Amino acid sequence: MPMLELLRTKKPVAHRPIWVMRQAGRYLPEYREVRKNFKSFIDFCLTPEAASEVTLQPIKRFGFDAAIIFSDILILPHALGVDVNFIEGFGPKLTPIRTEGDLAKYSEVNEEVFNKVGQALKLTAAKLESKTNLIGFAGSPWTVAAYMTEGSGSKTFSETFKVVYGNPNLFAKLIEKITIATIEYLKVQIQAGAQIIKLFDSWSGLVPCGLYDQYVTNPTMMIVSELKKSYPNVPVIGFPKSSGLRYAGYAANTGIDAIALDQSISLDYAVKNFSGLVLQGNFDNMLLAYGSEGQITESAKEILDMLGNTPHIFNLGHGILPETPIKNVEALIEVVRKYEGRS
Ligand code: CP3
Repeated sequence: MPMLELLRTKKPVAHRPIWVMRQAGRYLPEYREVRKNFKSFIDFCLTPEAASEVTLQPIKRFGFDAAIIFSDILILPHALGVDVNFIEGFGPKLTPIRTEGDLAKYSEVNEEVFNKVGQALKLTAAKLESKTNLIGFAGSPWTVAAYMTEGSGSKTFSETFKVVYGNPNLFAKLIEKITIATIEYLKVQIQAGAQIIKLFDSWSGLVPCGLYDQYVTNPTMMIVSELKKSYPNVPVIGFPKSSGLRYAGYAANTGIDAIALDQSISLDYAVKNFSGLVLQGNFDNMLLAYGSEGQITESAKEILDMLGNTPHIFNLGHGILPETPIKNVEALIEVVRKYEGRS
């Protein structure tokens, strides 16, 4: 279990771990085969046998050092009773929460939903070799709240900001509700076998400096500290995507064990500023999709040369794109493993 050991000791291990964000997904033909059996993406996520099967696919094919449970950050609003649909060619669509009345409709968590994810984790844990770690995850409160107020994805999340500024009390209550539910959800995942937790704050880059602590850093800190009270040995990886200079406060104050770097953060900066944390990232997902094998090898070597002995988990700066050729993923893994003298 090189990844867990690295995260617990914060010291480099002989075998540098590698996995990729969205590793179970549409770039894999075997994923597309299983996907065909489900009209609804939510049903797919909440069918434990299918979710476990696709979680294991990239492990079988590539031998990554970690498996991330197949699910989605929008399972949490679904568990709160919000109508969530994934529409082909459009993305997620949710019944939006923009008034006190909207929020009041969703008071209870449907435990059954969390338990389905728990079952998928149990099935997966039973099939993994001990060298492969199992990652559970959730969206961070800001990102989940952004989808819940906007009602979909967006470039600007204008509907979200209408609530943030138009009804700050409501937005703060929503963040609190999500934070509490997320703590419960992650505890279910840990009890079911998740050894490492990752928090995805995909839209944290939209939060202005003045609100960043309130909506990004503090809720994340609350989740991490609550988890650590019950599970001090379960490391947490934080991913405040596109946060730029706001990465520094997040890294220093949230209590996370590892910081996932998007491709805009230079490794040079990360090494200097995030000592004490394990770094994860940040190979360019566009290069992995559209670059040549030679370019991929060269760029991966630059990362490895730059990092030297820094505790580091190899990964992308964002999720793998569906059009990524399998042979490019193979080339990436090969260079990382060869560099470590593994193959
Ligand atoms: O990483 C993994 O392999 C585990 C599974 C996973 C999925 N989504 C499966 C998925 C994880 C960790 C996520 C996280 C997630 N989901 C994030 C945070 C990470 C990021 O990319 O920023 C976000 C913002 C979402 C919300 C989401 N889910 C969107 C916007 C979409 C639609 C866009 C798209 O890519 O189609 C999804 C759907 C989704 N989640 C798919 C997968 C494999 C594709 C759906 C399909 O197969 O039909």
